[in-house]
Amino acid sequence: MYIVSSQRSSDFSSKMSARSMSHLSPVEKKRFPDGELYIRILDNLQDQDVAVVGNTRSEEDILELLFLLNAAKEQNPKSITAVVPFFGYARQHMIYRRGEAISSKVIIQAISQVAERIITVDIHDTASFIFTDRNCINFSPVEAIAKSHRKDSISMVVAPDDGAFEKAKAVGKALSADSMYLVKTRTGPTTVEYDRENLNVKGMNVLVVDDIISTGGTVMKTIEILKSNGAAKVFVAATHGIFLNGSAEKIRKMCDRLSTTDTIVSDYSTINISMDVMDYIGESK
Ligand code: R5P
Repeated sequence: MYIVSSQRSSDFSSKMSARSMSHLSPVEKKRFPDGELYIRILDNLQDQDVAVVGNTRSEEDILELLFLLNAAKEQNPKSITAVVPFFGYARQHMIYRRGEAISSKVIIQAISQVAERIITVDIHDTASFIFTDRNCINFSPVEAIAKSHRKDSISMVVAPDDGAFEKAKAVGKALSADSMYLVKTRTGPTTVEYDRENLNVKGMNVLVVDDIISTGGTVMKTIEILKSNGAAKVFVAATHGIFLNGSAEKIRKMCDRLSTTDTIVSDYSTINISMDVMDYIGESK
Protein backbone atom coordinates (compact mmCIF):
# COMPACT_ATOMS: atom_id res chain seq x y z
CA MET A 1 0.00 0.00 0.00
CA TYR A 2 1.11 3.55 -0.76
CA ILE A 3 0.07 6.41 1.51
CA VAL A 4 -0.19 9.90 0.09
CA SER A 5 -0.66 12.70 2.59
CA SER A 6 -1.63 16.34 2.67
CA GLN A 7 0.95 18.47 4.45
CA ARG A 8 -1.16 19.06 7.55
CA SER A 9 -2.02 15.38 8.00
CA SER A 10 1.61 14.26 7.78
CA ASP A 11 1.75 13.25 11.45
CA PHE A 12 -1.34 11.02 11.07
CA SER A 13 -0.01 9.55 7.80
CA SER A 14 3.49 8.89 9.15
CA LYS A 15 1.99 6.88 12.00
CA MET A 16 -0.20 4.95 9.53
CA SER A 17 2.87 4.22 7.46
CA ALA A 18 4.98 3.14 10.45
CA ARG A 19 2.20 0.87 11.66
CA SER A 20 1.93 -1.04 8.40
CA MET A 21 5.35 -0.61 6.81
CA SER A 22 3.45 1.05 3.94
CA HIS A 23 5.33 3.49 1.81
CA LEU A 24 4.67 7.19 2.48
CA SER A 25 4.94 8.81 -0.93
CA PRO A 26 6.79 12.09 -1.22
CA VAL A 27 4.66 14.93 -2.55
CA GLU A 28 5.81 18.14 -4.15
CA LYS A 29 3.62 21.04 -3.06
CA LYS A 30 4.23 24.56 -4.18
CA ARG A 31 2.51 27.78 -5.16
CA PHE A 32 2.57 29.45 -8.55
CA PRO A 33 3.53 33.14 -8.39
CA ASP A 34 -0.15 34.08 -8.43
CA GLY A 35 -0.79 31.86 -5.39
CA GLU A 36 -2.41 28.90 -7.13
CA LEU A 37 -1.64 25.47 -5.66
CA TYR A 38 0.54 22.89 -7.48
CA ILE A 39 0.62 19.24 -6.37
CA ARG A 40 2.70 16.34 -7.70
CA ILE A 41 3.02 12.82 -6.26
CA LEU A 42 6.56 11.64 -6.93
CA ASP A 43 5.99 7.84 -6.77
CA ASN A 44 4.60 5.70 -9.55
CA LEU A 45 1.23 4.51 -8.22
CA GLN A 46 0.14 2.44 -11.21
CA ASP A 47 -1.64 -0.78 -10.11
CA GLN A 48 -1.02 0.02 -6.43
CA ASP A 49 -3.48 0.24 -3.53
CA VAL A 50 -3.36 3.85 -2.42
CA ALA A 51 -4.64 5.67 0.68
CA VAL A 52 -4.90 9.44 0.28
CA VAL A 53 -5.02 11.18 3.66
CA GLY A 54 -6.17 14.73 4.36
CA ASN A 55 -8.54 16.75 6.53
CA THR A 56 -11.18 19.11 5.15
CA ARG A 57 -10.79 21.69 7.91
CA SER A 58 -9.93 24.70 5.73
CA GLU A 59 -10.46 25.67 2.08
CA GLU A 60 -6.74 24.97 1.47
CA ASP A 61 -7.05 21.51 3.06
CA ILE A 62 -10.01 20.69 0.81
CA LEU A 63 -8.25 21.77 -2.37
CA GLU A 64 -5.06 19.93 -1.42
CA LEU A 65 -6.98 16.71 -0.70
CA LEU A 66 -8.86 16.91 -4.00
CA PHE A 67 -5.66 17.60 -5.96
CA LEU A 68 -3.92 14.66 -4.26
CA LEU A 69 -6.85 12.37 -5.07
CA ASN A 70 -6.74 13.47 -8.69
CA ALA A 71 -2.95 13.13 -8.90
CA ALA A 72 -3.29 9.56 -7.59
CA LYS A 73 -6.18 8.68 -9.91
CA GLU A 74 -4.39 9.96 -13.02
CA GLN A 75 -1.78 7.22 -12.47
CA ASN A 76 -4.30 4.36 -12.69
CA PRO A 77 -3.83 2.82 -9.25
CA LYS A 78 -5.52 -0.47 -8.32
CA SER A 79 -7.66 1.21 -5.65
CA ILE A 80 -8.01 4.52 -3.83
CA THR A 81 -9.17 4.95 -0.24
CA ALA A 82 -9.72 8.50 0.98
CA VAL A 83 -8.91 8.88 4.67
CA VAL A 84 -10.38 12.09 6.10
CA PRO A 85 -9.43 12.09 9.81
CA PHE A 86 -11.24 15.37 10.48
CA PHE A 87 -14.12 15.84 8.06
CA GLY A 88 -14.76 19.58 8.33
CA TYR A 89 -17.84 21.21 6.78
CA ALA A 90 -19.95 18.25 7.97
CA ARG A 91 -22.21 20.44 10.13
CA GLN A 92 -24.21 21.56 7.10
CA HIS A 93 -25.61 18.26 5.89
CA MET A 94 -29.09 19.58 5.10
CA ILE A 95 -30.87 22.75 4.07
CA TYR A 96 -32.15 24.66 7.08
CA ARG A 97 -33.10 27.80 5.14
CA ARG A 98 -33.94 28.05 1.44
CA GLY A 99 -30.94 28.96 -0.68
CA GLU A 100 -28.25 27.35 1.48
CA ALA A 101 -25.47 25.17 0.11
CA ILE A 102 -25.05 21.69 1.61
CA SER A 103 -21.31 21.82 2.28
CA SER A 104 -20.88 18.20 3.34
CA LYS A 105 -22.61 17.02 0.14
CA VAL A 106 -20.28 19.10 -2.05
CA ILE A 107 -17.19 17.70 -0.36
CA ILE A 108 -18.18 14.06 -0.11
CA GLN A 109 -19.34 14.00 -3.73
CA ALA A 110 -16.07 15.54 -4.92
CA ILE A 111 -14.11 12.89 -3.00
CA SER A 112 -16.40 10.16 -4.36
CA GLN A 113 -15.49 11.09 -7.95
CA VAL A 114 -12.15 9.44 -7.28
CA ALA A 115 -12.17 7.28 -4.14
CA GLU A 116 -13.89 3.90 -3.93
CA ARG A 117 -13.88 4.03 -0.15
CA ILE A 118 -14.05 6.91 2.35
CA ILE A 119 -12.85 6.63 5.94
CA THR A 120 -13.67 9.33 8.51
CA VAL A 121 -13.17 9.59 12.28
CA ASP A 122 -16.14 10.65 14.41
CA ILE A 123 -17.68 12.76 11.63
CA HIS A 124 -20.15 15.36 12.95
CA ASP A 125 -23.07 13.41 11.46
CA THR A 126 -23.00 10.28 9.31
CA ALA A 127 -26.02 11.76 7.48
CA SER A 128 -23.38 13.11 5.06
CA PHE A 129 -22.89 9.54 3.81
CA ILE A 130 -26.30 9.50 2.13
CA PHE A 131 -24.84 11.76 -0.57
CA THR A 132 -22.49 9.08 -1.89
CA ASP A 133 -22.74 5.47 -3.07
CA ARG A 134 -19.14 4.82 -1.98
CA ASN A 135 -18.29 2.56 0.92
CA CYS A 136 -18.06 4.90 3.97
CA ILE A 137 -16.62 3.91 7.33
CA ASN A 138 -16.78 6.23 10.34
CA PHE A 139 -14.27 5.35 13.05
CA SER A 140 -15.34 5.63 16.65
CA PRO A 141 -12.80 7.04 19.14
CA VAL A 142 -14.52 5.30 22.07
CA GLU A 143 -12.04 2.44 22.60
CA ALA A 144 -9.01 4.71 22.15
CA ILE A 145 -10.37 7.29 24.63
CA ALA A 146 -11.26 4.60 27.17
CA LYS A 147 -7.81 3.02 26.82
CA SER A 148 -6.07 6.32 27.53
CA HIS A 149 -8.04 6.79 30.77
CA ARG A 150 -7.96 3.27 32.19
CA LYS A 151 -5.66 4.20 35.05
CA ASP A 152 -7.51 7.37 36.09
CA SER A 153 -10.15 5.68 38.28
CA ILE A 154 -12.99 7.39 36.41
CA SER A 155 -16.38 7.07 38.13
CA MET A 156 -18.43 9.30 35.83
CA VAL A 157 -18.22 10.13 32.12
CA VAL A 158 -19.94 13.40 31.19
CA ALA A 159 -21.17 14.66 27.82
CA PRO A 160 -21.47 18.47 27.63
CA ASP A 161 -24.80 18.02 25.81
CA ASP A 162 -27.16 15.27 24.72
CA GLY A 163 -25.51 15.12 21.27
CA ALA A 164 -22.35 13.66 22.80
CA PHE A 165 -24.17 11.35 25.20
CA GLU A 166 -23.99 8.17 23.11
CA LYS A 167 -20.21 8.51 23.00
CA ALA A 168 -19.97 9.29 26.74
CA LYS A 169 -22.18 6.31 27.50
CA ALA A 170 -20.00 4.00 25.43
CA VAL A 171 -16.79 5.31 27.05
CA GLY A 172 -18.45 4.91 30.46
CA LYS A 173 -19.33 1.30 29.65
CA ALA A 174 -15.77 0.58 28.56
CA LEU A 175 -14.46 2.07 31.84
CA SER A 176 -17.19 0.51 34.02
CA ALA A 177 -18.24 4.05 34.98
CA ASP A 178 -21.59 5.84 35.05
CA SER A 179 -22.43 8.45 32.44
CA MET A 180 -24.63 11.51 32.07
CA TYR A 181 -25.09 14.64 29.99
CA LEU A 182 -25.55 18.29 30.87
CA VAL A 183 -28.57 20.25 29.74
CA LYS A 184 -27.34 22.99 27.39
CA THR A 185 -29.33 25.78 25.74
CA ARG A 186 -27.88 27.78 22.88
CA THR A 187 -28.47 31.48 23.58
CA GLY A 188 -26.65 32.84 20.50
CA PRO A 189 -24.32 31.75 17.69
CA THR A 190 -21.36 31.53 20.10
CA THR A 191 -23.03 31.52 23.52
CA VAL A 192 -24.62 28.73 25.56
CA GLU A 193 -26.24 28.48 28.98
CA TYR A 194 -26.22 25.43 31.23
CA ASP A 195 -28.77 24.23 33.68
CA ARG A 196 -26.64 24.12 36.86
CA GLU A 197 -28.76 21.56 38.64
CA ASN A 198 -27.05 19.61 41.41
CA LEU A 199 -24.90 16.93 39.86
CA ASN A 200 -23.91 13.81 41.68
CA VAL A 201 -20.13 14.05 41.12
CA LYS A 202 -18.84 14.98 44.58
CA GLY A 203 -15.42 13.42 45.23
CA MET A 204 -15.44 11.64 41.84
CA ASN A 205 -12.88 11.51 39.07
CA VAL A 206 -14.84 12.67 36.05
CA LEU A 207 -14.07 12.37 32.34
CA VAL A 208 -15.63 14.89 29.94
CA VAL A 209 -16.04 13.51 26.41
CA ASP A 210 -16.94 15.53 23.31
CA ASP A 211 -16.51 15.24 19.55
CA ILE A 212 -14.84 18.59 18.99
CA ILE A 213 -13.28 21.50 20.85
CA SER A 214 -13.40 24.69 18.78
CA THR A 215 -13.45 27.84 20.92
CA GLY A 216 -13.30 25.68 24.06
CA GLY A 217 -16.29 27.49 25.56
CA THR A 218 -18.38 24.33 25.92
CA VAL A 219 -15.70 22.31 27.64
CA MET A 220 -14.58 25.17 29.91
CA LYS A 221 -18.14 25.71 31.14
CA THR A 222 -18.52 21.97 31.69
CA ILE A 223 -15.34 21.81 33.80
CA GLU A 224 -16.50 24.80 35.83
CA ILE A 225 -19.85 23.15 36.58
CA LEU A 226 -18.27 19.83 37.54
CA LYS A 227 -15.77 21.52 39.85
CA SER A 228 -18.47 23.63 41.49
CA ASN A 229 -20.36 20.39 42.14
CA GLY A 230 -17.35 18.94 43.97
CA ALA A 231 -15.67 16.69 41.37
CA ALA A 232 -12.24 15.58 42.67
CA LYS A 233 -10.49 15.42 39.29
CA VAL A 234 -11.72 16.42 35.84
CA PHE A 235 -10.19 14.93 32.67
CA VAL A 236 -11.14 16.08 29.18
CA ALA A 237 -10.98 13.94 26.03
CA ALA A 238 -12.23 15.09 22.62
CA THR A 239 -11.90 13.54 19.20
CA HIS A 240 -10.91 16.69 17.30
CA GLY A 241 -9.00 19.60 18.85
CA ILE A 242 -9.24 22.81 16.84
CA PHE A 243 -8.45 25.02 19.85
CA LEU A 244 -9.23 28.50 18.53
CA ASN A 245 -7.69 31.54 20.24
CA GLY A 246 -5.22 29.59 22.37
CA SER A 247 -8.03 27.81 24.20
CA ALA A 248 -5.97 24.63 24.71
CA GLU A 249 -3.78 26.24 27.37
CA LYS A 250 -6.79 27.72 29.15
CA ILE A 251 -8.56 24.35 29.24
CA ARG A 252 -5.39 22.57 30.33
CA LYS A 253 -5.04 24.89 33.31
CA MET A 254 -8.63 24.22 34.38
CA CYS A 255 -8.51 20.41 34.27
CA ASP A 256 -6.28 17.53 35.32
CA ARG A 257 -5.52 16.31 31.81
CA LEU A 258 -6.56 17.38 28.33
CA SER A 259 -6.23 15.06 25.36
CA THR A 260 -7.57 14.65 21.85
CA THR A 261 -7.06 12.04 19.18
CA ASP A 262 -4.40 12.59 16.53
CA THR A 263 -6.84 13.65 13.75
CA ILE A 264 -5.61 17.24 14.20
CA VAL A 265 -2.08 17.56 15.51
CA SER A 266 -1.42 19.67 18.63
CA ASP A 267 0.45 19.39 21.93
CA TYR A 268 -2.56 17.49 23.25
CA SER A 269 -3.24 15.01 20.41
CA THR A 270 -1.96 12.04 22.39
CA ILE A 271 -4.77 9.54 21.75
CA ASN A 272 -3.78 7.41 18.82
CA ILE A 273 -6.49 6.65 16.27
CA SER A 274 -4.25 6.62 13.17
CA MET A 275 -3.01 3.12 13.98
CA ASP A 276 -6.56 1.79 14.36
CA VAL A 277 -7.42 3.27 10.97
CA MET A 278 -4.35 1.63 9.40
CA ASP A 279 -5.12 -1.73 11.01
CA TYR A 280 -8.61 -1.56 9.55
CA ILE A 281 -7.33 -0.71 6.06
CA GLY A 282 -4.73 -3.47 6.27
CA GLU A 283 -7.25 -6.08 7.36
CA SER A 284 -9.92 -5.11 4.84
CA LYS A 285 -7.62 -4.89 1.79
C1 R5P B 1 -21.60 20.81 19.89
O1 R5P B 1 -22.66 20.32 19.59
C2 R5P B 1 -20.31 20.07 19.76
O2 R5P B 1 -20.44 18.73 20.17
C3 R5P B 1 -19.23 20.74 20.58
O3 R5P B 1 -19.57 20.67 21.96
C4 R5P B 1 -19.03 22.17 20.20
O4 R5P B 1 -18.97 22.30 18.79
C5 R5P B 1 -17.76 22.72 20.80
O5 R5P B 1 -17.61 24.04 20.42
P1 R5P B 1 -16.82 25.08 21.31
O6 R5P B 1 -15.50 24.48 21.68
O7 R5P B 1 -16.67 26.28 20.42
O8 R5P B 1 -17.65 25.39 22.50
